[in-house]
Amino acid sequence: MTADQRLSSVLALHGGCKAVPQDIPAFIGIGAEEKQAVIDVLDSKLPLSGFHGSARPSFFGGPEVQAFESAWRDTFKCKHALSVNSATSGLMAAMGAIGIEPGDEVIVPPYTMSATAVAPLIYGGIPVFVDIEDQYFCLNVEKVKQAITPRTKAILAVNLWGHPAALQELRALADEKGLYLVEDNAQALSATEDGAWAGTVGHIGVFSMNVHKHIQSGEGGICVTEDDHLAQRLQLIRNHGENVTTWLGVENIANIIGFNFRQTEIGAAIARAQLKKLTPMVERCRQIAAQLTNGLNDLEGLITPKVRSGCTHSYFMWSIRYQESVLGIPRARFVEALQAEGVPVSQGYVSPLYRLPLFQKRIALGTQGFPFSLSQIQYHDGLCPVTERLHEREIIQYQPVAWDPSPEQVGQMIEAFRKVHKHIKDL
Ligand SMILES: Cc1ncc(COP(=O)(O)O)c(C=O)c1O
Repeated sequence: MTADQRLSSVLALHGGCKAVPQDIPAFIGIGAEEKQAVIDVLDSKLPLSGFHGSARPSFFGGPEVQAFESAWRDTFKCKHALSVNSATSGLMAAMGAIGIEPGDEVIVPPYTMSATAVAPLIYGGIPVFVDIEDQYFCLNVEKVKQAITPRTKAILAVNLWGHPAALQELRALADEKGLYLVEDNAQALSATEDGAWAGTVGHIGVFSMNVHKHIQSGEGGICVTEDDHLAQRLQLIRNHGENVTTWLGVENIANIIGFNFRQTEIGAAIARAQLKKLTPMVERCRQIAAQLTNGLNDLEGLITPKVRSGCTHSYFMWSIRYQESVLGIPRARFVEALQAEGVPVSQGYVSPLYRLPLFQKRIALGTQGFPFSLSQIQYHDGLCPVTERLHEREIIQYQPVAWDPSPEQVGQMIEAFRKVHKHIKDL
């Protein structure tokens, strides 16, 4: 069958053959190197966690944790890299390290994983949702400026789906206003802005190594900073710091109530083995994204991903914008037809976070306690119209990190899009 014939054939939704006949396998990035790393840890007979909450020097973790942190510093050219057991832990530690206090406002985007917005709450901070840009899907800097009040303490920017937020602009703004910029870089490993790694422009950057990310150790995360003081506070919060403030000579103990955010030796060993594969892991996603974009960017009504000038994208997600006004049918039907053709796409990402019951029902918490529940900060529907429009009507996503298509299957996915697009009137 020629490509033209395939394109003209009946839609799979209507009983025709699938454009992607074989299921696309899940991507498995764990191999012999990670297996060996785990065996080496077990053979070493060292404790599976090298941390102690109060003893020195094991307050700073075991040999694998420290080797992983050192490898991370070398790779990302940062002064401090402190592993944690998740990016969620890392974000919480970051909020404590910068000194978030009850009532402090932290600017966050609503289109992100919930941990971003929950992190300030742990210290009594109040998330203030600010809308995103509709081209690159990260915080809109002009709207951030409008949202700054005397209570604002930090901007928590998310480098969403692998694209850096306007990091240098946000850092300059934070410095000018005396605020902190924290980067949630869970999804943008290896992305850059003007040559700077995403995650290294803010005062603290937080990375994730959970099972869904570019590189992973099942669970895991790491915080980076250039600031010695913030690094020490991160270490204290990571590991029951209340026990060690005396021998470390810590004067300011505000927020130094420690957690157990510690990474295990096996987790760190797997993460270090994965870090060695960083370039091929990210390049694989970039190549698939480029193939999809090049194969589809002439289709009317589908806007393929844009990359801001000076930036590189690491394509945790390849996200296109669907224009119902051009294509004439709702996105849901288009996605349904693509899925029937065998393309693993989804519509939208997570609902804007302020719609979570946590934000919608906060008044029910009572009249005392959390400044969050008492504050006048708004979480009503319609708060961030760009996010709502993108989520409800426009975004269609394929997740390069999750799937392992052959180059031929990527070609078939492109054909599936073109086939559904060609038959749109039949949907
Ligand atoms: C943007 C973002 N922030 C934070 C997190 C939390 O990461 P972790 O699962 O490592 O805690 C995730 C995880 O999906 C994420 O995507």
